[in-house]
Amino acid sequence: SIHLCKIVELPKISNSQGNLTFIEAHNHIPFDIQRVYYLYDVPGGSVRGGHAHKNLHQLIVAMSGSFDIVLDDGKEKKRFHLNRSYNGLYICPMIWRELDNFSSGSVCMVLASNFYDEEDYLRDYHTFLTAAADR
Ligand code: TYD
Repeated sequence: SIHLCKIVELPKISNSQGNLTFIEAHNHIPFDIQRVYYLYDVPGGSVRGGHAHKNLHQLIVAMSGSFDIVLDDGKEKKRFHLNRSYNGLYICPMIWRELDNFSSGSVCMVLASNFYDEEDYLRDYHTFLTAAADR
C-alpha cells in the first residue's frame, strides 16, 4: 500500500567542508541493495517511469536538482517533491510511479533490491490495476 512509501531522512554529517550522507542496507532502508542506477541529462518536460514493479523495492534520491514522483497503489495517489540529497523516497512493490518536473541538471539515483528484470515490470496501467486489486 502507498502508506508504506515514505520519505526517509538520511544521516547528514555537516561541517565547514560540506555535507556527507550515507545509506546502509536494512539500517536506513528495509532491503539489500543489489543495483544502483541513475537518471541524468533528462530533458525539461520529460515524464519517466510509468510502470510498477511486482517485487522490487527502491529508494529514490535527488542527488542534485529536483523532480516530482507521483505514486499510485491503485486506490490512492500521492505526489512527492524530492530536492534534498539527504532525503530518499522508499517505494515498496506494486506501486505505479511517474517522475516529472525534472529541473535542469537534476540527477535521480535509484537504489534497488534486485537486478534489472523486465519480467518484474508491469508496464500497462490496467494490468497493474487488476494485479493490485487481486492482492
Ligand atoms: P525504464 O525502467 O523503462 O526507465 P524509466 O522508468 O526511468 O523511464 O528503463 C528504460 C530502459 O533502460 C529500458 O529499455 C530498460 C533499460 N534498463 C536496463 O537495462 N537496466 C536497468 O537497470 C534499468 C532501470 C533500465
